[in-house]
Amino acid sequence: MEIARIIGGRELHGEVFVSGSKNASLPILAACLLTSEECIVENVPDLSDIRLMVDILRNVGAIVEYVDAHTLRICAADITPRAPYDAVKQMRASVCLMGAFLGRMGHSSVSLPGGCVIGQRPIDLHIKGFKKLGCAVDIQNGYLEVKGGNMIGTHIFLGGRYGSTVTGTANVLMAALGARGVTVIESAACEPEIIDLCLFLRKQGAAIGGIGTNTLTIVGQRKLHGCRHRIIGDRIEAGTFICAGLMTKGCITIRGNTPKVGGAVYDKLEEMGANVKEFEDGTIVVDSKKQKLRSAEIITLPYPGFPTDLQAQFCTLLSCIDGISVVSERIYPGRFMHIPELNRMGADIMLEESHAIIHGSSKRKLTGTQLMASDLRASAALYLAGLCAENETLIHRVYHLDRGYEQFEEKLCNLGANIERLQEANLTKEEGLQRAS
Ligand code: EPU
Repeated sequence: MEIARIIGGRELHGEVFVSGSKNASLPILAACLLTSEECIVENVPDLSDIRLMVDILRNVGAIVEYVDAHTLRICAADITPRAPYDAVKQMRASVCLMGAFLGRMGHSSVSLPGGCVIGQRPIDLHIKGFKKLGCAVDIQNGYLEVKGGNMIGTHIFLGGRYGSTVTGTANVLMAALGARGVTVIESAACEPEIIDLCLFLRKQGAAIGGIGTNTLTIVGQRKLHGCRHRIIGDRIEAGTFICAGLMTKGCITIRGNTPKVGGAVYDKLEEMGANVKEFEDGTIVVDSKKQKLRSAEIITLPYPGFPTDLQAQFCTLLSCIDGISVVSERIYPGRFMHIPELNRMGADIMLEESHAIIHGSSKRKLTGTQLMASDLRASAALYLAGLCAENETLIHRVYHLDRGYEQFEEKLCNLGANIERLQEANLTKEEGLQRAS
């Protein structure tokens, strides 16, 4: 297995380009199954999750070709609406195949995903939406069997106890494309990734109203066709680089981020006294010279609220800022696997149910040690900690990071960071892990 070695303490300077959004790409790749014609999707990030989705698409019968490293040509002329456990167990986002199968063929058989380290992640709202459309839903041998031969457009309230659901909205939206008449989804997710999906579907010929709002109106049973689409930039990757710039007291320019990172994030950064500016074209400039950052209170919420996918990174940032910060997780109440690891580096963070109480300090430096990455965003938070820690940080299970950050280490190294990827076995032999213990 690979591990990352980071020598902390370097200021980051220069320009970095964010990749296409993983969370926009995954449902859009699934949506290519809605038509038998060819779709070309550009700016798809080269990530392990994307490669898994490509394998799944091929597995169900689609022909997928790489035009180049970031452009996919997909033709789903002849597909079978079934996704087996082997595919789904590796990536929860493969549940968004259900909507595409239903919208195209009126039938879906997808293995139910198992547990997830960041929280329970049920799919009851997806099921509720399918049932409202008139589908028969049944669980058989671990598969969610959905039969929607005669789906009829209707009014669906899709909000749950944690607010809207991103993948649930994508699923019900795609299923509704196969229903007779008009469907209205109330309390729909309005994340930029859902907007991108809607714009893609429109290019395929779908009639969708209310894009970017919490109420989507979908006209079903229109003939969908092939199209060409460019995926939006990854706002979470951009937000992670903002944290990296601030934590290392650097000056960096972040490009390629077509959707805005989000007002809630900038609002917090302003409150913290950070000098971060986003320009009309999406370019972000982080200049942390002469700044004195302040502690903050952050509550994660569905868009346009503060994104849960930046919570871990901000916990790291706030642990290096004087004062007490409180970070409350309202999407995944238990998504705090990074906190014990940060505390092992010398951070002072207390967990109280779904709140992290951070006693931050700019004087008490984090110190490098061996760390265990537990999920994608927790990995990013540990990399950030390593970037500003004293001495050497070794991060195990970095495959979590590879699911969602394309060339993260190369990009950080180009900004001046000192990071290398090593084979765990080699490190044990050559240097001994006591180096970082
Ligand atoms: N929820 C339900 N019932 C459902 C669906 C969701 O109660 O049927 C709950 C969830 O348990 C959670 C909340 O609603 O508490 C929101 O979940 P949502 O369905 O919006 O999450 P998701 O669609 O499974 C996507 C992203 C996540 C991101 C969340 C929240 C993709 C592939 N994944 O997940 O991204 O954290 O939205 O914004 O788009 C990541 O990239 O690291 C990641 C985990």
